[in-house]
Amino acid sequence: MNYKLNTIDEQSNKGNTLGGIKRLIPLMHGEGRQTLIAFTTILVSSATSLITPIIIAHTVDTYIRNKDFHGVLAWSLVLFAIYCVGLGASYIQTITMGSIGRRVLFNLRNTIFNKLQELPVAFFNQNKAGDLISRINNDTDKLNQFFAQALMQFVGNAFLILGAGILLIVLNPRLGAAALLPAVVILGVTQIISPWVNRVSFKSLQALGGMSGEIQESINNFKVIVAFNRLDYFRNKFDEANQKNFKASVTAGIASNIFTPLYGLAYNFGQLIVLAYGIYLISTGMFTVGLLIGFLLYVNSFYNPLRQLATVWSSLQLALAGLERISEVLALKSDMITLPNTQPVVPSAPLLAFNNVSFKYPDSGNIISDISFELLPGKVYALVGPTGGGKTTTASLMARLYDPTEGTILLNGRDIRGYSAEERGKYIGFILQEPFLFTGTVRENIIYGNTRYHDYSNEQLLEVLKEKDLTGLLARFEEGLSTPISSSGDMISLGQKQLIAFIRAILREPELLILDEATANIDTVTEELLENILEKLPKTTTKVIIAHRLNTIENADDIFFVNGGEITRAGSLQNALDLLLHGKRAS
Ligand SMILES: Nc1ncnc2c1ncn2[C@@H]1O[C@H](COP(=O)(O)OP(=O)(O)O)[C@@H](O)[C@H]1O
Ligand SMILES: [Mg+2]
Repeated sequence: MNYKLNTIDEQSNKGNTLGGIKRLIPLMHGEGRQTLIAFTTILVSSATSLITPIIIAHTVDTYIRNKDFHGVLAWSLVLFAIYCVGLGASYIQTITMGSIGRRVLFNLRNTIFNKLQELPVAFFNQNKAGDLISRINNDTDKLNQFFAQALMQFVGNAFLILGAGILLIVLNPRLGAAALLPAVVILGVTQIISPWVNRVSFKSLQALGGMSGEIQESINNFKVIVAFNRLDYFRNKFDEANQKNFKASVTAGIASNIFTPLYGLAYNFGQLIVLAYGIYLISTGMFTVGLLIGFLLYVNSFYNPLRQLATVWSSLQLALAGLERISEVLALKSDMITLPNTQPVVPSAPLLAFNNVSFKYPDSGNIISDISFELLPGKVYALVGPTGGGKTTTASLMARLYDPTEGTILLNGRDIRGYSAEERGKYIGFILQEPFLFTGTVRENIIYGNTRYHDYSNEQLLEVLKEKDLTGLLARFEEGLSTPISSSGDMISLGQKQLIAFIRAILREPELLILDEATANIDTVTEELLENILEKLPKTTTKVIIAHRLNTIENADDIFFVNGGEITRAGSLQNALDLLLHGKRAS
């Protein structure tokens, strides 16, 4: 199970801009009409820029030279009208592309977020939240900028360059060829340095993600950092990431701006050549002043967009680098597959059975080794053992947060991998030591993934909570169902988080309820409430309880001692205590 990101090396998108653009296009799916509007307006505004030089040349040669000011005025009005049309067109185009960009961004962020939600817990163990947030925010924003501005500039400029280039050659082939010479040279130079620019922009995004990850980590652990006086350690780590980001972005800045002056230079050369050669041609009577003015304007319409293209180009490179990092996330496949549903549910089978199960985390030794046991309906099981013994890991396996590395787990006689997440949720409810919460409200969190109550109004939901004696717990939240929750969970206490997880689990009416230190952070009054609620659960509910406080496990039907890869049936509470205290079984 490797979900580690950043495994794609930066070489992979080297020089493959065309392939990259092809991957950008599908993102605009469903934007056909808007794109067509934007495309048309851009053609109109480019066409207006291409028509005006000819009109100016004509006006100069025919009317100004003959001092016919009526003609000059008439053509000026025509020019004015054309400029207005061009202006209107580019205005509409900007608005349309802006909204396309925002929608693409919205869809993309949604897609990534959904992807993240379907990835297994192991993924989040292996990647820093900050880097992921950076991928969702920064990288997608690079794409947005590209769609909102760069793409149509790209199309419009390409059109202008082509049109102006053709007109230059048609008006005067030799002068045209001379005017285009600097452009040919500069394109060659671009070809040579592009791969380097690509590489640098990818590195810069990577460094930004790294820094974001560092910030996230130290914010999450801030209390711990202060308590253990590790401020220096994290400051150094952050400094390092910040330095790296700084250097990478400076180089990326240089890289993306290197083209602008180069293209400016080419434009100046083009102008100079046309001016010198043009004046010579006029002196020999082969050219007119009006045509020279028109020619210079075309040189301008050729080189200016070329220079802008260079900027657009680097925006494109950034967008492609962003897309690359996003695709990395989207390409991840959860290896927690759902097996085809061929095995039947066996009514007489134990509710849950571990068959020779071993499990290890990607970079740990075996946490449990070759374990087999069964959980029967309606029984209460307690897991005890030292901290780090593997209780939480065992509970996570029961809830299929991870798959065993060896052996199988059967739920009602069928491989637990044969159930969809939704089906599994109907059988198993769990409250983990560190509950998962989502940004939203208490309401959204307690009915998460529970289709049954999705359409309930708050009043109906309150009624259900009352039936199940859960109203007392809800009272622990200031604004009841509408109390806001943030996924980082800073606004509520760990105890409150566990209450939410508790209500969520009870509402599912699971057949197997797993409580991992569920009352560790909860006051004794609330704990009594919880116990009353557990009492009221149907007698057929199987409970697995992991607890420090002994009173909670006194009434267990069976006690398992979990330590050092082994899970031993301890039988009595006294036996379990002896194992815990002396590491041996009482005789
Ligand atoms: N996500 C993880 N990645 C790697 N090792 C882990 C992870 N979670 C727990 N462990 C390790 O697994 C062992 C058992 O941990 P855990 O199941 O949390 O024990 P308990 O709940 O009994 O305190 C510990 O050595 C712990 O360091
Ligand atoms: Mg634990």
